[in-house]
Amino acid sequence: MRSRGAAAALLLLAFLPFTVSSAARKFSVDYKTNSFLKDGESFRYISGSIHYSRIPRVYWKDRLLKMYMAGLNAIQTYVPWNFHEAIPGHYNFSGDRDLQHFLKLCHDLGLLVILRPGPYICGEWDMGGLPSWLLKKKDIILRSSDSYYITAVDKWMGKLLPIIKPYLYQNGGPIITVQVENEYGSYFACDFDYLRHLIKLYRSYLGDEVVLFTTDGAGVGYLKCGSIQGVYATVDFGPGGNVTAAFEAQRHAEPRGPLVNSEFYTGWLDHWGEPHSVTSTAVVVKSLNEMLEIGANVNMYMFIGGTNFAYWNGANTPYAPQPTSYDYDAPLTEAGDLTEKYFAIRDVIKKYRKIPEGVVPPSTPKFAYGQVTMKKLRTVTESLDILSFSGPVKSTYPLTFIDLNQSFGFMLYQTMLPVDCSKPTPLSSPLNGVHDRAYVAVDGVVAGILERDKAISINITGKAGSRLDILVENMGRVNYGKEINDFKGLVYNLTLGANILANWTMYSLSIDEAVKGGLLWDRGSLRTPKTTSVNTAPTHLSPPAFYAGSFSIPDDIPDLPQDTYIQFPDWRKGQVWINGFNLGRYWPSRGPQITLFVPAHLLSTKAPNNITVLELEASPCSSGPCVVEFTNTPVINATTRYTMPFFRGSLTQQGFF
Ligand SMILES: *[C@@H]1O[C@H](CO)[C@@H](O)[C@H](O)[C@H]1NC(C)=O
Ligand SMILES: *[C@@H]1O[C@H](CO)[C@@H](O)[C@H](O)[C@H]1NC(C)=O
Ligand SMILES: *[C@@H]1O[C@H](CO)[C@@H](O)[C@H](O)[C@H]1NC(C)=O
Ligand SMILES: *[C@@H]1O[C@H](CO)[C@@H](O)[C@H](O)[C@H]1NC(C)=O
Ligand SMILES: *[C@@H]1O[C@H](CO)[C@@H](O)[C@H](O)[C@H]1NC(C)=O
Ligand SMILES: *[C@@H]1O[C@H](CO)[C@@H](O)[C@H](O)[C@H]1NC(C)=O
Ligand SMILES: *[C@@H]1O[C@H](CO)[C@@H](O)[C@H](O)[C@H]1NC(C)=O
Ligand SMILES: *[C@@H]1O[C@H](CO)[C@@H](O)[C@H](O)[C@H]1NC(C)=O
Repeated sequence: MRSRGAAAALLLLAFLPFTVSSAARKFSVDYKTNSFLKDGESFRYISGSIHYSRIPRVYWKDRLLKMYMAGLNAIQTYVPWNFHEAIPGHYNFSGDRDLQHFLKLCHDLGLLVILRPGPYICGEWDMGGLPSWLLKKKDIILRSSDSYYITAVDKWMGKLLPIIKPYLYQNGGPIITVQVENEYGSYFACDFDYLRHLIKLYRSYLGDEVVLFTTDGAGVGYLKCGSIQGVYATVDFGPGGNVTAAFEAQRHAEPRGPLVNSEFYTGWLDHWGEPHSVTSTAVVVKSLNEMLEIGANVNMYMFIGGTNFAYWNGANTPYAPQPTSYDYDAPLTEAGDLTEKYFAIRDVIKKYRKIPEGVVPPSTPKFAYGQVTMKKLRTVTESLDILSFSGPVKSTYPLTFIDLNQSFGFMLYQTMLPVDCSKPTPLSSPLNGVHDRAYVAVDGVVAGILERDKAISINITGKAGSRLDILVENMGRVNYGKEINDFKGLVYNLTLGANILANWTMYSLSIDEAVKGGLLWDRGSLRTPKTTSVNTAPTHLSPPAFYAGSFSIPDDIPDLPQDTYIQFPDWRKGQVWINGFNLGRYWPSRGPQITLFVPAHLLSTKAPNNITVLELEASPCSSGPCVVEFTNTPVINATTRYTMPFFRGSLTQQGFF
């Protein structure tokens, strides 16, 4: 039936994503009943974390539906600033970065949203979500009233918050609460002016009605600098402890109002070189049940972890980067598969809430496409004309990634040996300034690897005037603590014996653009693997180089392409692209992750699928079968290698710890 009201509503539709029904939508904190109030009724959320930035857009709906079918009535997500504003003033909200589409899907499925726009998010994400270009101001104090920082935050929020506004619950959308900062009480700055500035900013764009909240560790000490008047204080804590005692910390800041655990850990994060984290289902469901029993609101972090594609992983200190998989031992695996933990959690939720009827969407099928033979293309130093669009930059002392306007990936530093080193001479970074790993060669012959916090010196030999190539890998910026100002590259001088090395030529490398553009795939230069074994003893390393291979999807098998996992038998460490998409880092020689998740949508049935690999240490191609392999089974829990047999002169030995 058409009426003026309907016509007006239709008109509104053109501007707003949702029709606002006549009954006012309201969401608030109720201090009388110690709960939230939704449309005047007492409300409690049972939520799960899902980071849209870690899941391909094509799978958002599948993952959200599985969360809905588990009985959740809300999801929680971060907005990583650096994912949307990679270059100052250049915003990207499309494709896998389409936050609005993600929010719409949540709304359509009947899931409310707890939004955490940061600006700092931690989250095991590069620099905790802050864009690395903030470090252009070298002495910036991030997450504080530093005016350079605040100016950038204001500009970003001026873009982001108006996008979010129509999606607030009271405006017809799914967002019930919005978090201010993240675990600010764990940061040294303790700058209340900064928090007050954020609150003012959020209120000015989102209005006075929206429920703002903070999250901090469940300890009075954390809440001291983390909670602030006018914003609802919540806590986070994992399973296995005393739930009542943990909530007492929240009660210290909020004597009344709903109990909220904003991050209840269903699993835990991993680091390269440490065993895969596992949290038992029994412990998780026990604590979950205890929290739900006392009426608390719970967000499970993570409900699905997903993948740190490309270079998006963060790191902890002493420097320990997180692997590509962010599986987190969550109830849904990295690939969105149902687990025993999923069903056990669903069984707990059932006791407190009617869960949706119907079939839980099944795990996606996986396919083992098998082995693909790889061929060496060329080394990085042989590819500088292709990789370095802007050409080299010269400087007496080394410049960092940010000095060269590069955020992620790899940079090549070149200089000449100033003196004869006929005897092994230490090439060192006395101030531990290799961020994060440097692949060193003299006249094209590998000399060894320097690694932040692990190996600050190697011995090299060579004649005066020999070319020194140092490929430096950014392995992910620190995302937590006071060392988030994480400059990359050679951030301090290197020394050779008693000399400070000088007169550097540096190449910013646009490897992703070159791979995407097919520039490395000039077939004329494809080399067949050498049959003779190149013994680069004692290190068995070869210069960083690109490899390529193709495979076609069989057309006699129905329903292909399907998801798969890629693994690197006898490869060491590197980066892999499939059809130009940067899947992430592999490092089976360190572990625990062995396979990388390859979502089906990256694969083509119409053309051969192109794999490009940048191997940094040594490929198997010079000595044996030179293949990568697609398997249907993930392995992210291999035993890890802690020792680095090739590297001596570690920090530990030199007493830096
Ligand atoms: C924005 O991000 C999407 C998804 O990652 C990507 O496909 C697209 O190329 C990006 N757009 C620009 C202009 O960089
Ligand atoms: C849990 O903590 C509460 C409050 O501190 C305390 O009263 C209770 O005894 C504790 N329970 C257990 C099992 O330790
Ligand atoms: C980096 O970008 C700035 C402008 O943002 C420019 O002035 C500078 O020349 C660039 N540096 C290099 C090495 O390209
Ligand atoms: C490198 O050494 C030179 C000469 O001692 C010094 O002036 C410069 O500040 C040093 N650079 C860094 C980044 O430490
Ligand atoms: C750097 O190069 C200049 C000019 O080529 C030379 O005079 C100087 O000695 C070099 N410095 C070092 C430390 O090698
Ligand atoms: C792989 O590369 C070949 C040769 O450049 C190209 O023809 C083909 O379209 C590529 N495959 C895909 C799926 O992009
Ligand atoms: C890795 O996980 C699989 C599957 O859960 C399990 O069977 C295996 O024992 C685990 N391996 C290690 C080394 O923990
Ligand atoms: C470098 O060589 C010297 C002398 O042979 C040796 O004492 C030192 O341990 C070596 N350092 C490293 C890091 O291999």
